[in-house]
Amino acid sequence: MKVPYLIAALFGTSSTASKLYAASYAGIVTTLEFSKSNAGHELTTISNSTACGPNPSWLMLDAKDNWLFCLDEGLNGPNGTLTSFEVGANGSLSKIHSLETVLGPVQSQIYHAGDRKFFAVAHYTGSSVTSYAIESSGVFTHLQTFTYKLDAPGAVPDRQEAPHPHGVILDPTGQFILVPDLGADLVRIFHINPSTGLLEPRKPLKVSPGAGPRHGTFWTPKGARPGSVTDTRFYLVTELNVHLTGYTVHYGNGTIALTKFYETTTFGGSQPPSGSSAAEIAISPANNHIVISNRGDNTFGAQNDSLSVFSTADHSGKYFANVTYSGQIPAYGSFPRQFEIAPNDSAIALALQRNHRVGVAGWDDRTGHGGPLLAQKDLEGEIVCVVWGS
Ligand SMILES: *[C@@H]1O[C@H](CO)[C@@H](O)[C@H](O)[C@H]1NC(C)=O
Ligand SMILES: *[C@@H]1O[C@H](CO)[C@@H](O)[C@H](O)[C@H]1NC(C)=O
Ligand SMILES: *[C@@H]1O[C@H](CO)[C@@H](O)[C@H](O)[C@H]1NC(C)=O
Ligand SMILES: *[C@@H]1O[C@H](CO)[C@@H](O)[C@H](O)[C@H]1NC(C)=O
Repeated sequence: MKVPYLIAALFGTSSTASKLYAASYAGIVTTLEFSKSNAGHELTTISNSTACGPNPSWLMLDAKDNWLFCLDEGLNGPNGTLTSFEVGANGSLSKIHSLETVLGPVQSQIYHAGDRKFFAVAHYTGSSVTSYAIESSGVFTHLQTFTYKLDAPGAVPDRQEAPHPHGVILDPTGQFILVPDLGADLVRIFHINPSTGLLEPRKPLKVSPGAGPRHGTFWTPKGARPGSVTDTRFYLVTELNVHLTGYTVHYGNGTIALTKFYETTTFGGSQPPSGSSAAEIAISPANNHIVISNRGDNTFGAQNDSLSVFSTADHSGKYFANVTYSGQIPAYGSFPRQFEIAPNDSAIALALQRNHRVGVAGWDDRTGHGGPLLAQKDLEGEIVCVVWGS
């Protein structure tokens, strides 16, 4: 959770600031500060670390324990690396622990079993899913590796020559982990053993051939208690056919079932611009919009890609309303591989891979309208992930 804090009121003007952590394929994790004052918005770098490994691809903040987990994709092989950092009050990152892992970790997710904490990782190049137990000190131990194979290449053979787990999503009840697999056109489903935390494979969900599942997110009514939720939706973004697919979610006794109720392109039914691919997906903090990033669509001019906005609930975020396409808003750069909307603020942080840049754009959480570019910062290497800190 982002908690804005007051920094020194110098010269009679006060300002607020939030931290951001950005991962660069050049081997650097940078801590930035996004500040707002009477003079405007600014992004400044405050520290950096090279301890994640050669190709940081994903960052996972555990705000409760003040840990940042970094995944190193290991683009040149033979392995990836997972590293936990202690986040200092000044945003400095001190390495706690790291483990060599299967090649190509690209997304991770924390989950719980009893009072113990775990995380699961999707490995794109290594065609695998792995799981780990986290100790109270931020040290973690490897538990499981599931490695997959394809009998034959998929409908898009150059990208689907092998299984490519790309995302990890925890369901709202905390009982299941879903893993979109871009190469296999599946969403792999695991039940979390409530006493051991081990992942138990279940029958996967099949998607259309050539869709290329990448990331996903759940929607539940705002304020509802997870145990009492009656309306749960799952939204999947598929990279290769550039689609958004919605599923209704039904729970049984230790089971989860997904039924498709909606599908369109991330351009609201229009043909996506040739060469474009969908990347990230999130539900807005107000719980009423779905936001998706597109790469290489140049919707707002050369080197200016877009985010797609769909509405999915009434203004209160409490009642599902049919998914409707609201339009595209600018990403203010090229290849927004990942983004995160600040939970308590009117801002979207964007990882602009091809610009080697972090952008922060305005966002009106009530209406789902985009705002102006507030600040940007060029860094070294391709920026592939940016998350808000405290
Ligand atoms: C990282 O931080 C050090 C120390 O503040 C600084 O000298 C260096 O230029 C920074 N490197 C990058 C790539 O930002
Ligand atoms: C940030 O805090 C750490 C301890 O948490 C300290 O070692 C480091 O020197 C501090 N860096 C700066 C720039 O103040
Ligand atoms: C590192 O990569 C090698 C070669 O692919 C693999 O055999 C090994 O299991 C990997 N190490 C770990 C810890 O996964
Ligand atoms: C739920 O399933 C478990 C084992 O699969 C069984 O032991 C339990 O009795 C079932 N509960 C209900 C309410 O059906």
